[in-house]
Amino acid sequence: MENEFVLFWVKRCAQLQSVQLMRGNATTALPQLRQSLLSWYDQNRRDLPWRKTRDAYRVWVSEIMLQQTRVAAVLPRYENFLERFSSVEKLAKAREASVLAEWSGLGYYRRARNLHAAARVVARAGAFPQNAEAWRELPGIGRYTAAAVSSIASNEPVAVLDGNVERVLLRLHGKLGTSAQRWRAAQKLLDHTRPGDFNQSMMELGAMVCVPGQPICSQCPIQRFCQTRGRGISISRKPRQQKREIAYCLAQSNGSVRLVRRPKSATLMPSMWELPHCAKTSDSDTVLFSIRHSITNTDYTVRVIQRGSPLRTPGLWVKAARAEQLPLTGLARKILCKAGIIL
Ligand code: ADE
Repeated sequence: MENEFVLFWVKRCAQLQSVQLMRGNATTALPQLRQSLLSWYDQNRRDLPWRKTRDAYRVWVSEIMLQQTRVAAVLPRYENFLERFSSVEKLAKAREASVLAEWSGLGYYRRARNLHAAARVVARAGAFPQNAEAWRELPGIGRYTAAAVSSIASNEPVAVLDGNVERVLLRLHGKLGTSAQRWRAAQKLLDHTRPGDFNQSMMELGAMVCVPGQPICSQCPIQRFCQTRGRGISISRKPRQQKREIAYCLAQSNGSVRLVRRPKSATLMPSMWELPHCAKTSDSDTVLFSIRHSITNTDYTVRVIQRGSPLRTPGLWVKAARAEQLPLTGLARKILCKAGIIL
């Protein structure tokens, strides 16, 4: 009985806090929520390389890499990219093929092309954009990325809204309206003294605690403000992964490997280099190894085949050292690494 009474008041307090939030009662719940979230972020945030800097170029590169890509996949590429192109001027001067080569493994190569084009605009202007609105004028920068870069690098009080933040807002308020209402809700919550950190704390909460499926409410710093507290609210699930099998030919001779270049007009990964496709296999073919590779919603089983005669394999002979420098598709790089041809 006593427990039920306590539970009733805990729930009632959460409802009141969240009603205050939704009504925008800024004198009470909002400052407490911001403070709780920022303290949690200060103590629990992951030690990520782009969080050690406020340099606009480095923050910008991180946000472009993190578009549609998990933190774990970005980590091994981020420092390498910045070592190779250590300033926006160096990136602007680079050839597109080198930029794509350094992007290899991250996928969605249009981002690299846009980043390169945008670097040329910034280098010509001689200065970085000064606010989110100006960032948005660059190729490849939408509302989310502009707000993320400007809030983190320049402390501009503009809120971000991505999948993680939407999920946090949905659970916090118990409902989500139109896209415009969501952006407004994110902006209303934003802490104006530390907007960059606050934006990242919302992303971090969504990535680590308020996760898809079952949230870990016991670790949530803003649980007392939350309308739903893990009660079955989620944004529509990801589409099911498709499964497919494909095969590529691996032909080697005198330290060279056979590669083909994708057409310039291809919608996916135009002008990038890959191993020749192996449409049909014959009895004289050997399966060297198989690997798994996922692209968006398809999981591929990739068989790597050695033909009876390498001369039957289409493409050009490319020296291994040269292949390493080319803009290879992520899958081609993975295969050549696994075969020990490149590092
Ligand atoms: N996803 C997008 N931006 C991010 C950031 N700054 N930190 C972690 N994950 C992110």
